[in-house]
Amino acid sequence: MSVLEFKKVSKIYGDVKALDKINLSVNAGEWVAIMGPSGSGKTTLMSIIGCMTRPSCGTVWLDGQDLTKQNSRALTIVRRDKIGLVFQEFHLINYLTALENVMVAQYYHSMPNETEALQALARVGLEDRAKHLPSQLSGGEQQRVCVARSLINYPSLLLADEPTGNLDETNEKIIINLFSQLHSEGSTILMVTHDPEVAAQAQRIIYLEHGKIVEPNA
Ligand SMILES: Nc1ncnc2c1ncn2[C@@H]1O[C@H](COP(=O)(O)OP(=O)(O)O)[C@@H](O)[C@H]1O
Ligand SMILES: [Mg+2]
Repeated sequence: MSVLEFKKVSKIYGDVKALDKINLSVNAGEWVAIMGPSGSGKTTLMSIIGCMTRPSCGTVWLDGQDLTKQNSRALTIVRRDKIGLVFQEFHLINYLTALENVMVAQYYHSMPNETEALQALARVGLEDRAKHLPSQLSGGEQQRVCVARSLINYPSLLLADEPTGNLDETNEKIIINLFSQLHSEGSTILMVTHDPEVAAQAQRIIYLEHGKIVEPNA
């Protein structure tokens, strides 16, 4: 059953076609990697699914709902209830600790729960960094806090834009193992990556070029 369906989706910025009539279907529980050169539309695709950008035309179905017909309030609710985001910029709140950053996500979803937030940090190997501020964490640790935060509300769809882009090999392994685990627990995962080894962990790889889905090496 497809959980996500793009039909002729375009996103146009001035004279740039960031996405050009994309058709795409993703099944529930699928793990899809998205690859393509810089500027090919990967982030635009992810931000449309993440309800942060609206397409210029076409329709986007998520879980049986046409996102293009929802007002911004409804989109906020979809994002909160269904989607976990790990994006390129960390977007951690710099005056809150790692633990509090995770708890903020719980707050907007339902209710903060310190025990659960600590468990989420433990899942990414950061239980002993809970009281640290982002400035006291390495880039890899900050990225892992973002992953913990994105998982805290058990999103059915996880969107990750280069989640291992800033990470060394050890941290990359931690994140990829975690994604594998989530995938085996039934999460649908869409992950942008430049790393062929990371992409190979997914069940399917989609290649973007100039806003279009292409065959590899075409
Ligand atoms: N907010 C924006 N305003 C204008 N142009 C944009 C905007 N976002 C993206 N673009 C353009 O759309 C194209 C695709 O960008 P993006 O989706 O970020 O690519 P990628 O993530 O593959 O590097 C690029 O040419 C980029 O400059
Ligand atoms: Mg990008």
